[in-house]
Amino acid sequence: MSRVIALANQKGGVAKTTTTLNLGVALVEGGYAVLGIDMDPQGNLTMSQGLNPDEVHPSMFNVLVQGIDIRDVIYRREIDLAVSSIDLAGADLALSSVIGRERALSKALMGVRDQYDFILIDTPPSLGLLTINALTASDAVIVPVQCEYLSLRGLAQLERTLELVRENLNPAVHIGGILPTMHDSRTIHGNEAIDILRKSFGDLVFDTVVKKTIKFAEAPVHGSSILAYAPQSDAAEAYRALAREVLNGKKI
Ligand SMILES: Nc1ncnc2c1ncn2[C@@H]1O[C@H](COP(=O)(O)OP(=O)(O)OP(=O)(O)O)[C@@H](O)[C@H]1O
Ligand SMILES: [Mg+2]
Repeated sequence: MSRVIALANQKGGVAKTTTTLNLGVALVEGGYAVLGIDMDPQGNLTMSQGLNPDEVHPSMFNVLVQGIDIRDVIYRREIDLAVSSIDLAGADLALSSVIGRERALSKALMGVRDQYDFILIDTPPSLGLLTINALTASDAVIVPVQCEYLSLRGLAQLERTLELVRENLNPAVHIGGILPTMHDSRTIHGNEAIDILRKSFGDLVFDTVVKKTIKFAEAPVHGSSILAYAPQSDAAEAYRALAREVLNGKKI
């Protein structure tokens, strides 16, 4: 059975999508079968593998709302990828009257859980129904945070949402790890943010810190991960290190 991990943080632009893809590819390098799921109507994970969310059909919308087989929306790329399209933005509304609407993803995954070692779910920057579906389907959550004071404040809200999901939908889901991203070690601010993070969350914070680098802006343009685009880079190594931490299972 696969381990299902959601990448979540309601703050935008903290590297949820970047981490979903690059952690996934690092696990594939290690010989594991990985499925990525794009639960974001922005479709950034879908785009990052050279697919166009405006053209793919069917997509996760049809899986969640119409209950079609998730295998019909999976494309084989660096990782296997269940794609998003813009109509996913209407999934909240379309699901609102459906009984068991929070469990649509969890149900969809049942048919593929024995085919993958890891299922990584990329979520949108909100705590709406798509993210709730991801948390309900997951064993653990990885929370990427940008190394800035303001980013740290959003964690309390995420934890409250997780508490509600645990009480009502999925008692097992927990924060498996907090990943500091876009770290600029040249600034006092960046280093202080990491100190605060470690003081507040202790062992929950991964040892791996992903530094800020321009390479991350370049890789998606090529429709590839940082591991394929710049395999020897510090950035690629950081995601391999993260994969090792996930695999040794201390936290997740
Ligand atoms: N370590 C890094 N250094 C520099 N840029 C990065 C790094 N990680 C990610 N980025 C860039 O920051 C931007 C935001 O990253 P990403 O899309 O992964 O965030 P996100 O949390 O998924 O955003 P959203 O909330 O909109 O879904 C992207 O342009 C990405 O290429
Ligand atoms: Mg994203």
